[in-house]
Amino acid sequence: MSDLSYNLDDKVILVTGGSRGIGFEIVKQLLRQNARVVICGRKQAGLDEAVSSLAEAGDRLLAIPAHIAKEEDVDHLFDQAIKTFGRIDGLVNNVGMNIVTSLVDADPSLWQKIIDSNLSGTFLCSRKAAQVMREQKRGKIVSMSSIAGRRAAPAMGIYGIAKAGIEMMTKVLALELAGFNIQVNAVAPGMVKTDFSKPFWSNEDIYHQIVKTIPLGRIPEPIEIAHPVMFLCSEGADFITGQTIIVDGGACAI
Ligand SMILES: NC(=O)c1ccc[n+]([C@@H]2O[C@H](COP(=O)([O-])OP(=O)(O)OC[C@H]3O[C@@H](n4cnc5c(N)ncnc54)[C@H](OP(=O)(O)O)[C@@H]3O)[C@@H](O)[C@H]2O)c1
Repeated sequence: MSDLSYNLDDKVILVTGGSRGIGFEIVKQLLRQNARVVICGRKQAGLDEAVSSLAEAGDRLLAIPAHIAKEEDVDHLFDQAIKTFGRIDGLVNNVGMNIVTSLVDADPSLWQKIIDSNLSGTFLCSRKAAQVMREQKRGKIVSMSSIAGRRAAPAMGIYGIAKAGIEMMTKVLALELAGFNIQVNAVAPGMVKTDFSKPFWSNEDIYHQIVKTIPLGRIPEPIEIAHPVMFLCSEGADFITGQTIIVDGGACAI
């Protein structure tokens, strides 16, 4: 699958949270497509590890520490990206996190933390990217939702609300930016094999329970999410905007 081509030669694509998990896989595949890539994460150590394991990318990969819910960090991230590569062809809003909690018992500070990292950060980065892309009169924005944004699940409430917000943000931005040749879409995975969801899929009993709800009968690898993201970043998706592609092995079809 990694040999598929999306014609992303020399495109400049910023991937938030590219230091591990799905984001790292997206970055790895984008570099294989000869894109130039900017990544961010909160921890310098994580970024250093990602850069050293992708050393062959050389100066086609730029890593900037940034918390995407902090406006000054986002400004710095985009300034550095433009200073280094001169433009931004694509933004992948990949950052997301969850802390398992019921909605009713959640402390407001926990609500804020989950909303900030998933929703406010996506807003701040999309807004910044859109301002650059509007001048360029082209660009692609792809945000990471989740099927938790469509199916209410206990303990995933705040996360699901944030992801539902990302899907509405995708539609609103698509309308606001259509006249500038900027396409805005999202990808909504079900469970994917990363550290984020490891407590669930690494437990044999839970794994079998989850797999029973997935018609294709397995939990996907990050590369299976990276490909739809790359497609949405490519010219092949020039007439697709305001959409969310569900990548869940058929779970939501039930
Ligand atoms: N894995 C799944 O089962 C699954 C399912 C559906 C949807 N998703 C969505 O897919 C996306 C990626 O998930 P994942 O499983 O790859 O997550 P992950 O393995 O936990 O990786 C998260 C990445 O985001 C960075 N990050 C987290 N908070 C950040 C912040 N506030 N500012 C900047 N960087 C931040 C992390 O680096 P630092 O820690 O250094 O900041 C890391 O690079 C998320 O949006 C998630 O909601 C995942």
